Amino acid sequence: MQYQFSEEQLMIRQAARDFAQNDLKPGVIERDEHQRFPTEQVKKLGELGFLGMMVSPEYNGAGLDTISYVLVMEELSKVDASASVVVSVNNSLVCYGLEKYGTEDQKQKYLKPLASGNVIGAFCLSEPEAGSDATSQKTIAVDMGDHYLLNGVKNWITNGSTASTYIVIARTDKPNGDKGTNALIVEKGMPGFTVGKKENKLGIRGSDTHSLMFNDVKVPKKNRIGEEGFGFKFAMKTLEGGRIGIASQALGIASGAYELSVQYAKERKTFGKPISDHQIVQFKLADMATEINAARLLCIKAAWLKDQGLPYGKASSMAKVFASQVAMKTTIEAVQIHGGYGFVKEYHVERLMRDAKITQIYEGTSEIQKIIIAREVLK
Ligand code: CAA
Repeated sequence: MQYQFSEEQLMIRQAARDFAQNDLKPGVIERDEHQRFPTEQVKKLGELGFLGMMVSPEYNGAGLDTISYVLVMEELSKVDASASVVVSVNNSLVCYGLEKYGTEDQKQKYLKPLASGNVIGAFCLSEPEAGSDATSQKTIAVDMGDHYLLNGVKNWITNGSTASTYIVIARTDKPNGDKGTNALIVEKGMPGFTVGKKENKLGIRGSDTHSLMFNDVKVPKKNRIGEEGFGFKFAMKTLEGGRIGIASQALGIASGAYELSVQYAKERKTFGKPISDHQIVQFKLADMATEINAARLLCIKAAWLKDQGLPYGKASSMAKVFASQVAMKTTIEAVQIHGGYGFVKEYHVERLMRDAKITQIYEGTSEIQKIIIAREVLK
């Protein structure tokens, strides 16, 4: 394993850093406050190739490695986690699954526009009564010969109203545990498919989270991804990569809060000297720096394993559980270092603290990650 990034990886990181500072930072506070989706910014992310980063150029992707994806996610998330979650979901949960398991027709029709950023996608697994317990799906797709008849409700769907292509996990009408589940591609506009209520969230308020309703939606058989019954495994395999994205998002939220804290500590004076001269603040910054470094190494390790074609499920869960914990701890400390200024919006750290929390919840709670890690450890 190399401990140095390549020239190309560094260039991509710089491009993401510039984009975050020039395009995401202005307006991030207002978007958060008014729960406004970063429409223009997502369009530009598509133009830069960040929405289909790891997809092969044959399907309009940028053909980059997962390590570059980690670097981009970190830089974007330092500034705007509402924008970076769009990058994560589109890359990991939508494009990856389509490229790896989709048919050639599905790739031509759905993957190409998704990878070029012309449209964005959503991954629909969670339900009112099936979040962590992913086999308890109530959404059902009944086999009608040439199509499935899809009925049910999905909850907490990122890109819920802004997506055009939805990958929906649904149980079949032949109960068979985890093997009685399919992954179906549903298009916005299919009769019977409606977007429900928008969630009013604690964090990542600029991202677009909705419930979705499916009422007798006719989904052509050719829109099933993989073999009949592959839906649960498809979701699990896809989430393994998704967790690298969310771990990197957590890493970025933590390093964003850390960088702001270092800068503030050097500028803010108390008792006649910059607060960075007080040992209590130095210790906080030292802990932040150390833990962020450890989180970054876990993210890079998981990405490296994926790029090498080696198993990465345990590594991605470790990265996610640790980085999200670091994000929470670091952002709380960042607010503390900023004192009263940390409690108001202009200084950004209160938003980062609110944004950090979701990284311990979505794409599998920290408890789910520990189940996955423990199963591997005890195997
Ligand atoms: N890869 C391949 N196969 C896998 C797998 C993986 N990573 N994980 C499980 N499987 C297979 C198992 O091998 C097993 O197959 P067999 O029956 O052939 O042996 C089958 O799937 C069932 O596995 P388990 O018995 O382990 O299933 P379980 O019911 O005990 O659940 C779980 C395991 C890890 C808890 C899983 O349910 C899980 O990951 N839950 C969390 C789901 C989640 O992350 N939800 C978040 C929603 S998505 C989201 O947040 C998106 C967003 O908008 C940002």
